[in-house]
This record gives sequence, C-alpha cells and structure tokens, in this order.
Amino acid sequence: MNVLIKETEIQQKVQEIGKKINKEYKDRKPILIGVLKGAFVFLADLLREIEIPVEIDFLSIHSYDGSESSGVVRITHDLSLNIEDRDVILVEDIIDTGRTVSYIIENLYTRKPRSLAVCSLLNKETRRVVDVRLTYVGFTIPGVFVVGYGLDYDNRYRNLKCIGVLDDK
Ligand code: IMP
Ligand code: MG
Repeated sequence: MNVLIKETEIQQKVQEIGKKINKEYKDRKPILIGVLKGAFVFLADLLREIEIPVEIDFLSIHSYDGSESSGVVRITHDLSLNIEDRDVILVEDIIDTGRTVSYIIENLYTRKPRSLAVCSLLNKETRRVVDVRLTYVGFTIPGVFVVGYGLDYDNRYRNLKCIGVLDDK
C-alpha cells in the first residue's frame, strides 16, 4: 500500500471544512447526512469540528455491481429524520463517476429540504460521467482506487488512518 494522503493532511483538511461550515451555517442547524459505510469516519471527525448546533443521520445504499458504478442504486437503510425545510449537508467519502451521489441528491430533493450541500472528502474529477456540483471538497485525487479512512476494498482497510493506493490494484 502506498500512502497518498497522510493522517495529518486529512486532519488539517477536515478542520478547514469544519471551519467553513461553522461560518456558512452560522445561526442555522444543519443535518449532516452520511452515506454508509464509507463516509462514517469522515463524518465522525467532521462532526467534532462543528461548533454550531448540528444533527446527524445516515443512509445506506447498495449499488448493483462490482467495482464500476452503474448508478443503479437502492437505499437499504433510510434516514430517521425528516429533512423537509431543513439545511442538509450530504457527506460522502468519494465521488467517482458521480452516479451514486446524483441518485442520492435527486432522492433527497423529493423530500423538500430548504437547502442541500454536498461535501466529499475525495473527488476523482477525471472519472466523472455525471456532472455534480460539490459544495465542499477535501482532496481532488487521480482516478486510482484508494482505501483507508472509511474507504474499503472488499470490506477491508477502512481502519487505516491515512488514504492509500493498493499496489496490486
Ligand atoms: P460513483 O457512483 O462512481 O461516484 O461511485 C461512488 C462510490 O463508489 C463511492 O461512494 C464509493 O463507495 C465507491 N468508490 C469509488 N471509488 C472508490 C475508491 O477509490 N475506493 C473505494 N471506494 C470507491
Ligand atoms: Mg460511498
């Protein structure tokens, strides 16, 4: 495994994003929505950088194929909060083709949030198939498969504190 982003760099970036959210959502009470499982580590760290009142919720999705995203997605665990008229920040680990997040965005809009921002730790911009407007991005990375800090390969490596590239992928 080769380290692509060090633990300290991630921490610094998460703090930066947290500061922006504190400023831009001052006097509001946003809901952070984490997409399981990948985003839970990022959300947990980001949450602790937020100093304004905030709520969290999660949704879980299942994509219908192996490594290449088809965008055919099913929600396997839905939100417990009502997001109507609320300021929502969707928290993702990584945006690759953009298919998954655009499905989720479309789904969330049907619930009539007051606003919807998208915050992703990682962005593989060169791989994009569907155009997505990202509000907060941690790192733009090359189109390689990465693991760690919540991201898995075959359900492994989520526990790494850094983000790395597997040698044999
Ligand atoms: P998209 O629909 O192609 O944007 O794929 C997004 C989803 O695929 C992410 O939420 C991840 O779960 C997964 N994914 C995409 N790239 C990677 C990667 O490099 N490592 C781990 N998971 C990834
Ligand atoms: Mg994900």
